Amino acid sequence: MSNFEFSFQNDHTYKHNTRQEMNIRAILPDIFYVGVNDREKHRFESLWPLPHGVSYNSYIVRSHKTALIDSVEVRESLTLFSHLDEVLGGTEIDYLVVNHMEPDHSGSIPLLAAKYPEMKIVGNKQTVAMIGGFYGITDQERFVTVCDGDKLDLGEITLRFLMTPMVHWPETMMTFAEERRILFTGDAFGTFGALNGGIIDFETDTALYLEEAYRYYSNIVGKYGKFVQRTIEKTAPLAPEFICPTHGPIWHESIAEISAIYDRLSRYHSEPGTTIVYGSMYGNTEAMAEAIAMALAARGEKRIRIHNAGKDSLSHIISDAFRYDGLIVGAPTYSMTLFPPVDTFMKAMQTRETQNKVLGLFSSFTWASAAGKALEGYAEAMGLQVAAKTEMKQGINNEIRADIEKFADSFMSELHKSRYARLR
Ligand code: FEO
Repeated sequence: MSNFEFSFQNDHTYKHNTRQEMNIRAILPDIFYVGVNDREKHRFESLWPLPHGVSYNSYIVRSHKTALIDSVEVRESLTLFSHLDEVLGGTEIDYLVVNHMEPDHSGSIPLLAAKYPEMKIVGNKQTVAMIGGFYGITDQERFVTVCDGDKLDLGEITLRFLMTPMVHWPETMMTFAEERRILFTGDAFGTFGALNGGIIDFETDTALYLEEAYRYYSNIVGKYGKFVQRTIEKTAPLAPEFICPTHGPIWHESIAEISAIYDRLSRYHSEPGTTIVYGSMYGNTEAMAEAIAMALAARGEKRIRIHNAGKDSLSHIISDAFRYDGLIVGAPTYSMTLFPPVDTFMKAMQTRETQNKVLGLFSSFTWASAAGKALEGYAEAMGLQVAAKTEMKQGINNEIRADIEKFADSFMSELHKSRYARLR
């Protein structure tokens, strides 16, 4: 008996023994998880905080031939190798399928190519060019170059390749193990969060990963909504039983939930709620943010998320701004421009081609006003209508408070119209 014992039940669920200490798991008798957890890195892409770590997922598909689907960050190569040795027992890998070339998944390629000299590297034309550019592997004998719809016969299992450009780089593709109905999706349907023992969704508390999916999507993939939509249209007819992304758990029971999050966010469709993002040097603009939040709450808005852009991570701010349909942004004038942390936030939202927000703007100045105009400039560049705006000179007073009440009336009126329109 192997280390990976299976017994299928009538309802297609199954039990299996595991090698948790090695972070190896059989998904099906001939498909194994061999990925690694990274609990050391502070920031993904040197930008995005990882309070719960991240996993780099890698999979073995074993039939007459053996394929490794995606690899891991170079610093985690030795852990991947130990997983491969454990699963393969010294046998060779015939193919390395490279669904995505970002170095969190391709960093191990040169070491794998050296360890398995007979192994062919499978990718599309752009993948092959990038492997040459990043890692200097240019011997065309090492590559199997594939196009959309091409198949690779492993024996009992056929791999079909689907080109899914810009999810999240131009070379990204997906691999479908046809007979097992497993789709290896690269970054798509991925989340932050290292795997805490459970590898498949029904083995773990998915709440953490589903929550982190908003942050992962908005931070990493957010700019590429239309490409994600095309990919969803292309892959939905495959009706996969397992979705195996390169980050986070394997989706089986929660395929509908993770797909709905990706579908909604990639169409820029938000949930009811309002994110208030503000910058404040000495608390005066912050007082406006607090007054606006109270005015919205008094008008029935319950889900309000407030972020101080000077303190909170851009990552979490973007995530909430993507997630909720109301967005209110405020900042003081700073050296005759927009307060820098708010400017960074607005630039990030513009980069992500933000749409479908009910937008409110508030600003402040001491002797000359610039922040309000700069905020309006961003709104115009994103094609967003401003539902409400207000400006304060120096400190808050009754006049400003009265103006904030009018601001809240206008903002909530537009928000209700927008929500009602979505229901129709
Ligand atoms: Fe997980 Fe685009 O890399």
